[in-house]
Amino acid sequence: MTRMTSIPRDEFAERRQRLLSSLPAGSIALIPAATMQPRNSDVEFPFRQDSDFYYLTGFDEPDALLVLLAGKNPQTVLFCRERDKTMEIWHGYRLGPERAVAELGVDLAFANEEQDKQMPKLMQGCDQIFYGSDKTQLDAQVRSWRDSLRMAKRQGKQVPTGIQQLDGLLHEMRLFKSDAEIAVMREAGRISAAAHCKAMQNCQPGVTEYQLEARLNFHFAMNGCRQPAYPAIVGGGENACVLHYVENSEALKDGDLVLIDAGAELDYYASDITRTFPVSGRFSPEQKALYELVLKAQLSCIDMIKPGVLWQDPHDRSVEILVEGLVELGILKGETEELIKSEAYRDFYMHRLGHWLGMDVHDVGDYKLAGEWRPLQPGMVLTVEPGLYIAPDNTDVDARWRGIGIRIEDDVVVTEDGCEVLSAGVPKQVADIETLMAVQANN
Ligand code: GLY
Ligand code: MN
Ligand code: MN
Repeated sequence: MTRMTSIPRDEFAERRQRLLSSLPAGSIALIPAATMQPRNSDVEFPFRQDSDFYYLTGFDEPDALLVLLAGKNPQTVLFCRERDKTMEIWHGYRLGPERAVAELGVDLAFANEEQDKQMPKLMQGCDQIFYGSDKTQLDAQVRSWRDSLRMAKRQGKQVPTGIQQLDGLLHEMRLFKSDAEIAVMREAGRISAAAHCKAMQNCQPGVTEYQLEARLNFHFAMNGCRQPAYPAIVGGGENACVLHYVENSEALKDGDLVLIDAGAELDYYASDITRTFPVSGRFSPEQKALYELVLKAQLSCIDMIKPGVLWQDPHDRSVEILVEGLVELGILKGETEELIKSEAYRDFYMHRLGHWLGMDVHDVGDYKLAGEWRPLQPGMVLTVEPGLYIAPDNTDVDARWRGIGIRIEDDVVVTEDGCEVLSAGVPKQVADIETLMAVQANN
């Protein structure tokens, strides 16, 4: 069966109409589905639909192609897998073109086998072909469909003259979340925050990083999220200083912090939360001092988020706060202004404050418009995730600070007059973390 989703069926049709009306008349847009990826003989990686394709169809089968024809009489056409009794016995349900029209609300549907016959006909009379810049698998097919039209040119057939990127139009739509999308993301944030609480309560020395990962994934699945939005990062001690640490293979040690960066995917929408907490439930003075500095930066940046604020402004503020704090702690030495100008802080804070969040964890959408940082607007969702990482081999820093890595990450939707934190359900104040960890989970 097609997947139950909290995005109403009409919303997918409305998105197709909106994209159609923003395309120039006489253009054709191609949006391919994802394909199964082989892992080894007869085994495939878990299937995850292409986000652009799902955004416009709500259809979660592999090997399909959505075609949008813009103009006076806009049309939506779907190519998908033919129904096949044997294939369905071996591999499962297929919607099939006969049912696609009623189920998905497209105007026409054909079996994939019809593509080479139908596509030149659909392209005939169009001027521009649009598809995503990352959909290079279409290059050869588009060339062959144009070639077959060219052969019929003498019969008066018009061949599309240009190929354009669809990214700008489609990704600008995806950047602004509807009420239904925000509701799904709020739920993904709620489930993910609760999973982080469970991980904190199940943490103790000797537990491995991958066992905490399993706690998170178990909670996600038991609450309707079959897959995480990305592989969890669970880094104990100095592993937290590796930004994309996904080995998650070591046992956690008494006296260390553990950094967990994990989020569930719900109905194709991501959550992305990081918390850093002490393995044994109590922060040391050094861990607490650095943690509270990162928290101060994070809370100040969240406070700034509202319509009109430029994308870059909270990042710049996070740099100021972290640099001032590192100077106070004696980790950086010099004038704040100079340390910012020379980027000396990048040894400790080497990533940006955040990114767009949506169907992809690092979601689509431009950060600049006409070369300038863009202002935040209602409906945008972003992460706020400052961090500090003191490399274990940084001998310029007093030994007591070395090997501490801290990041605190929340998901924030811009509202009409400020913002809403979607991941507020997991504590981040030192006292609240210590209180929660003092109570062991009952599962
Ligand atoms: N989980 C990846 C990130 O925080 O950007
Ligand atoms: Mn993250
Ligand atoms: Mn993130």
